[in-house]
Amino acid sequence: MPTPTKKQIHAAAEALQRGELVAIPTETVYGLAADATNDAAVKRVFAAKGRPANHPLIVHVAKGDDLKRWAKRMPAHATALTEAFWPGPLTLILEKTDEIPDTVTGGQNTVGLRCPAHPVAQALLVAFAEIGSGIVAAPSANRFGHVSPTSAAHVMAEFGELVVEPGDASSREHITLLDGGNCDVGIESTILDLTSPTPRLLRPGAIGIDDIQRVIGIRPRLRDELQAGADVPRVSGALAAHYAPRTPMYLVSRETLAAEVDRLVSDGKRVAALSFTAEPKVRPSPAHTLVWIQAPLKAGDYARDLYANLRALDAAVAAMILVEAPPRNMEWDAVNDRLSRAQTGAGKHA
Ligand code: TXA
Ligand code: MG
Repeated sequence: MPTPTKKQIHAAAEALQRGELVAIPTETVYGLAADATNDAAVKRVFAAKGRPANHPLIVHVAKGDDLKRWAKRMPAHATALTEAFWPGPLTLILEKTDEIPDTVTGGQNTVGLRCPAHPVAQALLVAFAEIGSGIVAAPSANRFGHVSPTSAAHVMAEFGELVVEPGDASSREHITLLDGGNCDVGIESTILDLTSPTPRLLRPGAIGIDDIQRVIGIRPRLRDELQAGADVPRVSGALAAHYAPRTPMYLVSRETLAAEVDRLVSDGKRVAALSFTAEPKVRPSPAHTLVWIQAPLKAGDYARDLYANLRALDAAVAAMILVEAPPRNMEWDAVNDRLSRAQTGAGKHA
């Protein structure tokens, strides 16, 4: 795994302190980080992503940070959850203090706090705490609506012309990239809202509802139970179209996948497929019309590879991407969530 040097981490912390953007590895996905207490820097994040200003950003804190500075109170369950799952892929929505600017939260009085487990993210937060606020607002380091990045190469694919090595930034608009290798978890953190009497799951992730229930003794409400009511917080990851490839994508059964691949390939169409089964022997046809990826059978492994696989399938520039639908159970909840949003958004952006 590539490990940035201490000097590079320090240079990245200085870039944050100057109000610049730093792309950071986390265990979930790469983030596009800015000093969360610096209004102008936070605005640069929205501009770089092309993200609407009312979609709040998650604030990342170092291990052992005193949350009292950022959260007005620690409601029931908050401490039990941070003790059980931090550092790790769980974001808690809490009431914010005035130290968190409104630009970060899209004007809401709540803030999403997360303590990332990746050692490079932790090292950066610690270095930044020595010279600055020590907290960074970081959405996934992709253009709005695109597939999230799980490697430094993916960040380059999103922001290539802006990216520089730590210490090389010559303009405010540059993005300093810290390469921490491939992300282990591969999909975004679980988001749990603790500002209502019963905790609510706003985004499923690697930490499942059963894991949370085991720690706090009650079952969080699911996002499906949150119908468009007035008090539903804005979650851009909850847009129906998100995490999307450019190529139209369809979730299909194994049987349909096999039949469609057969039909399209014999029609001379280019097809990209993600399946649990091995590549089929298709009828002889012009070369390279089928790009086939065999996905891991375990949900956690599938999630780790998901965005890299979607990017590879998208790069095939096929007529369509066909994805064999995973099982429909809690274990696959987060993966199914991302796949269905990718399907809805696919082929709809430039
Ligand atoms: O794993 C992750 O959480 C990654 C890494 C970089 O940490 N970050 C991430 O950020 O996924 P982003 O911006 O792509 O997604 C953040 C989600 C959005 O859906 C946003 O609406 C929601 O968190 N969010 C942030 N603050 C919130 C708040 N106060 N209330 C409700 N939702 C919030
Ligand atoms: Mg995102």
